[in-house]
Formats: sequence, structure tokens, C-alpha cells
Amino acid sequence: MDLYEAMRTTFAAREFTDEPLPDAALFEILDRARFAPSGGNRQGWHVIVVRDRATREAVAKATLPAAKRYTAQGKAGENPWNSVEPTSVDAATIERTEANARLIEPVLRAPVVLVICVDLKVVAATDQYLDRVGIIAGASIYPFAWNILLAARAHGFGGTITTLAVSEEPQIKAALGVPPHVAVCTVMPLGRPVKQLTKLRRRPVPEFAVRERWGGSPLTAEVRA
Ligand SMILES: Cc1cc2nc3c(=O)[nH]c(=O)nc-3n(C[C@H](O)[C@H](O)[C@H](O)COP(=O)(O)O)c2cc1C
Repeated sequence: MDLYEAMRTTFAAREFTDEPLPDAALFEILDRARFAPSGGNRQGWHVIVVRDRATREAVAKATLPAAKRYTAQGKAGENPWNSVEPTSVDAATIERTEANARLIEPVLRAPVVLVICVDLKVVAATDQYLDRVGIIAGASIYPFAWNILLAARAHGFGGTITTLAVSEEPQIKAALGVPPHVAVCTVMPLGRPVKQLTKLRRRPVPEFAVRERWGGSPLTAEVRA
């Protein structure tokens, strides 16, 4: 598959056919994905391949509180789970909000679910002393997760990087026996998508790229004198 086509069409697949995704195909996908970059090339990733029903149910249960909050904040016009602006939605409202089913069901229905973890003992987190939420550590694991989705796409499979369940990480770690120094990064349902999207909605370049400094003139394709 053409690289640019893969980049343009690798979407968040949440509905899957009944076609299985056997270990052999999964092995090949991971064998492609392992060439992802990580800080210092430490490759701290670990992948737990989950097919067991009870484990999936435990993960779905762990996803529910965060999904309710996500849905409630979305309804209130907020950017759900952002770490800068405190939510205006109270706990009781969140509790009685029905979570959007598509945030919960893929983990129960997908042919296979990957729980992707990272060993924090080997991850450089250069922003760990800053007064904001940590972002750098994630950069040593999400390119790998994205590579899995790109490789899956090349095989006609698809899935989603999901993170809501991680808000209840202790539950997931207990269900899977993950040790304390390892973080859960994403729960990724994978399978053959019911339909393949070809047009993803994304902002155009001049909306997010500027020249020289924050607030500078938008980057356009025209060459400036
Ligand atoms: C860091 C990250 C976290 C995400 N968490 C979730 C999640 O918890 N649940 C979910 O259904 N989708 C999750 N997504 C998927 C996004 O919603 C999806 O990538 C985005 O809406 C674009 O979808 P599209 O490629 O189909 O256009 C996550 C994506 C990223 C990159």
C-alpha cells in the first residue's frame, strides 16, 4: 500500500466483522510495528494479547467511569479530560450520564484486544519536573501503537488507540498482572473493520503551522520572497 494512502486512511475503527485476527497475522503486524522510534531506542513496549471474555469485561468495566465523564463533558461543550480547564460538570451528573456505547463496546466485540504497556524504568520523561501534565513519556510508546494501526491497515485490519480505561489503571493492572513500574498506555481493539473510511476529517496545514513564532503567519505552500 502507498505510504500516503495508508496515512490518509488509517482511521479509528470501532466496528468489526466476525473475521478472526489470528496470532499469525498479529505476529506479522507487530513484526512491522516494532521499528517504531522511542527515546534512546529503549523500546520499552510490552503487548498483552487479550482474547479472554472475562478480561475484556474487566477492561470494559474500567472504561465506564471515564467514558461517562467523557460523554458528560462533551455534552457540556467542554474538551473532555483536558488537564488545563477544570470541568464544570459535577460528579452526580457524570454518574448519571449514559456513556456513549462506542466508547465501551469495541473492547467486548473486537476479535482481539491489545493492551499496550511501557516499562517506565527505561522511558525518558524529560518534562517530569514541569508544572503541567507529563507528555514526553508517551512519545516513547504511541509511535509504536500508531505503527500497529498502520501495519494493520496494510493487512486490511483496523483498530483504535483508546485510553479511557487507563484512568482506572489499577483495575487493569490487577486484571492482567502488570507490575508497578509498568504503565498501561492503550487498550487497542483490532479486527477487520465493517467499513473502510477513505476521507478523514483533519485540519488543514495553515490552521496549525505558523512561521517563526506562536501566532506567526500561517504556513502556506506559496514561496515567500
Ligand atoms: C491518544 C488517543 C487517545 C484516544 N482515546 C480513545 C478512547 O479512549 N476511546 C475511543 O473510542 N477512541 C479514542 N481515540 C481515538 C480518537 O477518537 C480518534 O483517533 C479520532 O477521533 C480520529 O478518528 P478518525 O481517524 O476515525 O477520524 C484516541 C486517540 C488517541 C490518539
